[in-house]
This record gives sequence, structure tokens and C-alpha cells, in this order.
Amino acid sequence: MPTVDEQYDMVEAGRFQVEGGIEGIRAYASSLGLKNIEFVQGLFQDTLPPLLATGVKFGLAHVDADIYSACKYAQDTVWPSLVKGAYITYDDPLDSTNMGAMQALEEMIVERDIRTEQMFPHPVLRAHL
Ligand SMILES: C[S@@+](CC[C@H](N)C(=O)[O-])C[C@H]1O[C@@H](n2cnc3c(N)ncnc32)[C@H](O)[C@@H]1O
Repeated sequence: MPTVDEQYDMVEAGRFQVEGGIEGIRAYASSLGLKNIEFVQGLFQDTLPPLLATGVKFGLAHVDADIYSACKYAQDTVWPSLVKGAYITYDDPLDSTNMGAMQALEEMIVERDIRTEQMFPHPVLRAHL
């Protein structure tokens, strides 16, 4: 977890260290027989721009980053690359420690004048309808 904004975020920087790093995660996925996953290491702020520059489009974006800066950056950056009717879902806003994720979700709804299709257990929105 990178630096957090104490105005919104109750999780602490440095949380979510994974034993073995990204190779440990790859090995775990492999042990489960998962072959259709591509792991990309780094902050969204560094990894998303080159990916989006390829022109890739998404039918689903699942935002699971807990903190305000990451959720806000991810949703705003990926929005133009969502196809019409694409799902954008959130993992964390209903968790009381993740007020930053809720703040980002609220801004998503207000700024784009969209409605939630589902709120529990995970908020679900549709893009460009
Ligand atoms: C609740 S964990 C979820 C991880 C994963 N989706 C899972 O279910 O195991 C939140 C993750 O968001 C990541 N994160 C937070 N800010 C980020 C950012 N700016 N760029 C990339 N990842 C970020 C943290 O490193 C952490 O691993």
C-alpha cells in the first residue's frame, strides 16, 4: 500500500506485503491452475497509461484498491476505455475502514450523473448508458 491520505484512508502505508513478492503470487496462481491472468506490478499511475495507450477496451473494471487516491485515479483513467454498458465494480467502499474508496465512488456517481445497478455486497455501475 502506497502513501495514504489520512483525511480519507484508515489503512496504513506498507500493508499487503506478499511473501515472495510477485513471483510468489505467480506461483500461487499457477498452483491453482489459473492460466489466464496477467500480473502487472506497480502503481496504477505508472502502469495504466502505457496499457491504455495500446487502445485496449474493457467490459469490466473491478476497483479493489482501498484508498482514495488509487480508486479515484483508476476510475477516472479507465472510464474512457470502458465500452458502452461495461461494468465498473468496487470491492471496498462498504467497509468502514475504506472511506476513501467510498469518497471516490461518490465522486464517480455525482460527476457522471450515473446510478448504482447494485450496492451490496459490492457497488456495481454501468458505463456510458
Ligand atoms: C485490498 S488489497 C486488494 C488486492 C487484490 N485485489 C486482492 O483481492 O487480493 C488493495 C490493494 O490495492 C493496492 N493499491 C493501492 N493503491 C494502489 C495504486 N495506486 N496502484 C496500484 N495498486 C494499489 C495495494 O497494494 C493493495 O494490494
